[in-house]
Formats: sequence, C-alpha cells, structure tokens
Amino acid sequence: MKNTSDIYILGIESSCDETAASVVKNGREILSNVVLSQIDIHKLYGGVVPEIASRNHVEAVDKVVAEALSQANVTLADIDAIAVTQGAGLVGALLVGVSFAKGLCQATKLPLIAVNHIEGHICANYLTYPNLEPPYMCLLTSGGHTAVVKVVDYDSYEVLCSTVDDAVGEAFDKVARVLGLPYPGGPQIDKLAQTCNEPTYKFHSVVISNGNFSYSGLKTAVINTLHNADQKGIVVDKADIAKSFTLAAIDGLVDRLWQETQASGLKTVAIAGGVGANSYLRSRVAEFEQRGITVCMPKLSLCGDNAAMIASRGYYMFKKGQFADLSLNACPTMKLRGEKPHR
Ligand code: KG4
Ligand code: ZN
Repeated sequence: MKNTSDIYILGIESSCDETAASVVKNGREILSNVVLSQIDIHKLYGGVVPEIASRNHVEAVDKVVAEALSQANVTLADIDAIAVTQGAGLVGALLVGVSFAKGLCQATKLPLIAVNHIEGHICANYLTYPNLEPPYMCLLTSGGHTAVVKVVDYDSYEVLCSTVDDAVGEAFDKVARVLGLPYPGGPQIDKLAQTCNEPTYKFHSVVISNGNFSYSGLKTAVINTLHNADQKGIVVDKADIAKSFTLAAIDGLVDRLWQETQASGLKTVAIAGGVGANSYLRSRVAEFEQRGITVCMPKLSLCGDNAAMIASRGYYMFKKGQFADLSLNACPTMKLRGEKPHR
C-alpha cells in the first residue's frame, strides 16, 4: 500500500537498443525494472541499426510499461509523474519513448519529466547506495560519453575532462569488431582479456596533453597491429590484444579520475555508464578504497541502459518542479549540464 508521502516515478527509456520501464520509490528504491534488450536482433548486423531499433521500441513500449507497473504491483493511479529519456541517443528511438510518455501524460494528466540519459546513468548510484549524497567525483564511461565529472549537487555538474573524439565504449565495440567478436563488443573484450595474464602489446595512453582523452589513436593502433601481423602471416593472440587494449583504454581514465579526486579534496568516487561494468575498470577504481576514498559502483544490472536510473533522476527533478510540457521533443545530442565544447 502506497504511503501518502511516498513519490512513485514511472521511468521510460528508449535511447538506443533497450526498451525499458521502471517504477522507483522516492528516487532510491526500485519497485520494478523491466529491460527488453534488442541485442539479439542487432547482433546480426554487427551493431545497432537505428530504424530497426525504433520499430522494435514501437512494438514493445506499451507491453514493457504495463509489465513494469504490474511487477511493482501498482497502477497509473499510484504514479506521481512520468520521467522519460529526452536525449542523448538515436532520434527515432528516443521519439518512441518521448511520444509514448507524452500520450500517457495526456491521458492521465500526470506531470511529464524530461531526463538527460547521462544524468540518469549517474543516478544509478543512488539506487545502489541509498545514503550516497553529492558532492562526489564520477567517472562517466558509456557508449557515447567519457568524462570525469564533479557531481556538485543533484542537478549541478562540472565536466573536468572528457573525450575529444570517440567514447571509450565505442572504442571497445570497434576493437571487438576487428577482433571478430560479436556485438556488443565491450563485454566480449572484458571476458577475453581476463584470460590473459601477461599482456605484451604496449599501446599509448588515451590521455592527451590538455588532460582530456582521445580514443581514435588507440583504435587505429590496434587495427594497425592486427593488419601488420596479418601481412606477416603472424597469428595474434586475441586475448593478449584484448588485455593490452583494455589496460590502455582504462588506465588513463582511472589516473585522471584519481588526479581530479585529489585536486578536489572529495572523499567519495562513483562510476557510471555501460563500461562501468568492465571488470578491470571496477578493480582499478576499487583500489581507491585503500587510499581512504569511499568508492560507489552501481550494481552490474544498473550500469547498462535501464529505466530505473531515469526514474531516479526524475524524482530529483520532480522535487524541484522541473516539468516538461507536451510540446517536448527528443534531443539526440543532449549534453550533460556543465559540459563545455573542446577548444
Ligand atoms: O551506457 P551504455 O549501456 O549505453 C550508452 O549510453 O552508450 O553503454 C554501452 C557501452 C557499449 O559500448 C558496451 O560495449 C559497453 O558499454 N560495455 C562494456 C562492458 N559492458 C558494456 N565495455 C567494457 N566492458 C564491459 N564489461
Ligand atoms: Zn546509456
């Protein structure tokens, strides 16, 4: 039975290849978290096909939302607001969630909340750590974003450094592709890398001179290594490549995270985004505990795209009265608040 002081937010997420809906209580407690993945469909094409993603979202979104309400044992009458991912993501995919949420709000007169997907990823930490409060430092690593972010408050962020080209997840997926591993490549590289104890390839750091990150050079270096070996008829050890690449892709991020944490004087560090599921990244960030830092890492099930993180973010926007109206449109290039363009 719902307590009158409790706030229930229905979250809807459709930015890429997961159709997701969730009911979250007071921003912190997951009552349901339904994620319908389209991975098996897109695997056939080696990556997400935007048009196919949109069509599958259209077919699934009503059922996924109904399932989330049912698993939470609530009806729309118990819901206080509907939070939907506005961006960033694939425009056609985003539009499915946005349109569905708008229709639901129109029918129920519930308030609509437009959530930034990246801010949602950061909120996955609140679902794993009920007592976590800003400020803290956050390493944001997803398929589209790579940044060290100071979370000043629930809706105030300072992006301290970020990638000037590819995102780290994108690099994982591209390297996996050239290694002949199936989509999505990140988890495959993670698995393969764990079988190599002595990586032998020395790829350069992804940290560039101004403290930001660049992944395009690392990606090219891996591709060149594979081509050179191929031309010489040398059979490469894929696990060695996977591990050597992982070290290069992650170590620089963790080093910059540590530098920014020390410079800020903050004592709490969190991670967010799909690459936050990477076992090597998690073990490197966990080492901060030995240096007196409290480390927060979302549960593995909350690192990838889900709607519980969107509902959690929606709760904090609800508390501040940050509502959208029914003219809301999808925003495929939505930036994190505080994100500045690179010079
Ligand atoms: O946050 P996310 O689910 O979607 C975006 O918002 O982009 O991130 C997806 C990315 C993909 O590039 C995927 O390969 C990567 O996260 N990923 C991983 C792992 N699990 C997912 N990368 C490395 N190791 C993993 N275990
Ligand atoms: Zn995401």
